Amino acid sequence: MNQLTNQQVERFKGAFPSVKENESMVAHTYLKIGGLARLYFIAETGDAVVHAIETALSMQIPWTVIGSGSNLLVSDDGFQGVVIQTGDRTQKINGVSVSAAAGLFTGSLAYATVDAGLIGFEWGAGVPGTIGGATYGDAGCFGGEMQNVVSSVDVYDVINQKRVTFSHAECHFGYRDSRFKHEPLIILSTALTLKMGDVVAARLKISEMTAKRKDSQPQGLFSAGCLFKNFEFTDVSVLEKLQREDEIPETMIKAKRISAGWLVDKLGLKGKTIGKAQVSSIHGNFLLNLGGARAQDVLALSSYVKMKVRDELGILLEDEVQYLGF
Ligand code: EPU
Repeated sequence: MNQLTNQQVERFKGAFPSVKENESMVAHTYLKIGGLARLYFIAETGDAVVHAIETALSMQIPWTVIGSGSNLLVSDDGFQGVVIQTGDRTQKINGVSVSAAAGLFTGSLAYATVDAGLIGFEWGAGVPGTIGGATYGDAGCFGGEMQNVVSSVDVYDVINQKRVTFSHAECHFGYRDSRFKHEPLIILSTALTLKMGDVVAARLKISEMTAKRKDSQPQGLFSAGCLFKNFEFTDVSVLEKLQREDEIPETMIKAKRISAGWLVDKLGLKGKTIGKAQVSSIHGNFLLNLGGARAQDVLALSSYVKMKVRDELGILLEDEVQYLGF
């Protein structure tokens, strides 16, 4: 990637005095991996996100927008451009209508909605990252999913350089997917519609989910959550190789989705280590940075896992994690 010129850097700094130079992405990713962002700007409002993008475009500076880096692998070479972090963490709750700025933590919103007497977003309590990221990637767990609660999304349309509101139908949500993954549309805020409900039951639900998560996922370690999407299928014949050897859990067959972690586990890959990156021994879809891992270690390990799953089971795993600077 071409280096930014001093003139580009100085001009951008002139427009955004709080921008940081040569910021280590280790500090901004849950994996604690990544080289330097040549410029790093925390946009405190949606307007600031738009202004930063438009300024970068006008100065021919490569740019990207991130949330809190919970699902992000940054290259060891970093990013020669400006990383714009969504820093607007505001929310509005009005009856059953909720509006959350892109930078709001998913967990904070979940607790706030329950405190306001609402149900339907309890599952968000343990989901790392921001509402912008959760909307982009249709985050979900324990039966909950963004696409079930989002009513509309405000974005900045980069091509037409204007703000647009997309209705639920226009977001084209799918499992861990949305149109925002495929088009230059930057999420500024998300509106959710929830229901009034039993707050005591909602709090209990949160503690049950927290306990489940503690039992089934690594805690307090550096990871990007699940690295791969679960494998979706329409025709069971693709599972032929698996069915010969293993009993596939009925729930996965019914859901037409096989847990990538379960597949990795079946192949005995838990604990597999390359450099300082390791497949978690608790959940096969979590790759851990044992401390000082490089992006190259994670890439090598994830490629190895994908290759094994493809060669031995005939299944191609797709990435859930997002890449920057490769
Ligand atoms: N399993 C194994 N071994 C493993 C992992 C899982 O046998 O190493 C088994 C479990 O025992 C269970 C089944 O596979 O019977 C499903 O496992 P789990 O409940 O952990 O769900 P998952 O399909 O592996 C998904 C989401 C998670 C979410 C959990 C809980 C994806 C890619 N992952 O995992 O989301 O937290 O369900 O609802 O959809 C994420 O997206 O980053 C993420 C962590």
